[in-house]
Amino acid sequence: MKTVSVELRGSFDNSYEIYVDGSVVDRLVNDLSARSYGNRPVVICDENTAGLFGQSLVEKLAKLDLDPVLLTVPAGEESKSLNMFSFLLEGMLEAGITRQDVVVALGGGVVGDLAGYVAGSYMRGLNFVQVPTTLLSQVDSSVGGKVAVNIPGGKNYCGMFYQPRAVYAGIEALKSLPEKEILSGLGEVVKHGVIADRELVEYLVANSEGVLSLEPEVMKYTVARCCEIKADVVRRDEKEGGVRRVLNYGHTVGHAIETHLGYRLTHGECVAWGMRIVAAASNAAGMLSDVDLLLHTKVMDSLKLATGQLEVETADVMEMMKRDKKVKAGKIVMVVPRSIGEVEIQEDFPLELIAAEIDRLK
Ligand SMILES: NC(=O)c1ccc[n+]([C@@H]2O[C@H](COP(=O)([O-])OP(=O)(O)OC[C@H]3O[C@@H](n4cnc5c(N)ncnc54)[C@H](O)[C@@H]3O)[C@@H](O)[C@H]2O)c1
Ligand SMILES: [Zn+2]
Repeated sequence: MKTVSVELRGSFDNSYEIYVDGSVVDRLVNDLSARSYGNRPVVICDENTAGLFGQSLVEKLAKLDLDPVLLTVPAGEESKSLNMFSFLLEGMLEAGITRQDVVVALGGGVVGDLAGYVAGSYMRGLNFVQVPTTLLSQVDSSVGGKVAVNIPGGKNYCGMFYQPRAVYAGIEALKSLPEKEILSGLGEVVKHGVIADRELVEYLVANSEGVLSLEPEVMKYTVARCCEIKADVVRRDEKEGGVRRVLNYGHTVGHAIETHLGYRLTHGECVAWGMRIVAAASNAAGMLSDVDLLLHTKVMDSLKLATGQLEVETADVMEMMKRDKKVKAGKIVMVVPRSIGEVEIQEDFPLELIAAEIDRLK
């Protein structure tokens, strides 16, 4: 088992551990039965993770007399809604859940964001633990304490910073994940490497087959390393004042592509396109060296990320970018790689270079 510590010592000590292992079920069951985080566990799943993991977990907890509750929402982004938020609050109230109990978010980023927001809100907050079951949620959304639901006018517009008490990331859970969801998570994996760790990028190139076949040792290293990188960024900037913006590498262009294509491609795939575009534009701007651009291209190719042709209208993508909620005073804030492992935040990056790269990839 690899353990990553997230140290958050502001006005309160919000620090917690991330456990990364093949299976984390025994550890989770032990910790819940020791009542480490609360009395009764409320296990929140979507309909896929309920069948795959939720029901068996709840059976185990029931045998230990923990009187668990299982609440299930439909799978998919639509469940990150105020409707599902209130459905879960009502469900917890009906089951007699109190502030002394604990929410277990068992699923991908949708369940994590929704259940985390529920945990932060129910009776003004009770403990919660994240049990991420998608690659994206293991390397990204379960770390950092951002929890939210969508409102009709905007994604993640209703939420808070609410840190889990612990994260349990089990690699074996990824075996049932559809390939496109693995690729989506890999987009964020590469992002972590490019923003902070050249060694990770080189490791991914050297071990791409192991990554794509979810080889346990390779994935344990990869997931734990990504968690360390994200934890380090979050430790320096818990509430997104500045440093945390580096996590948006590939996202300004990626989000625009995602919206432009009406969410036909997964989030990580769009981020991967965004990274390819920005890296090439950085090279054209004289920042990223040819050698580093080659390594960037190599890691994307070897992990089968953003390959083929990008089918978008350049002008529409550029227009979408300007509407991004992270646009500050009319300026598009862009995270640009200076080398592999080091990025810079720029507010005046020449946008014509971005447009030219989108044109080239079409
Ligand atoms: N809070 C943050 O910091 C943060 C960061 C990045 C993304 N997010 C959010 O995360 C969400 C996306 O998360 P996601 O990509 O995990 O999507 P998801 O939660 O929708 O999961 C993808 C699909 O995989 C299924 N699934 C989950 N685990 C499975 C498993 N082990 N085997 C088989 N199927 C499984 C789910 O039921 C779903 O159908 C978005 O809403 C995004 O906004 C949040
Ligand atoms: Zn992302």
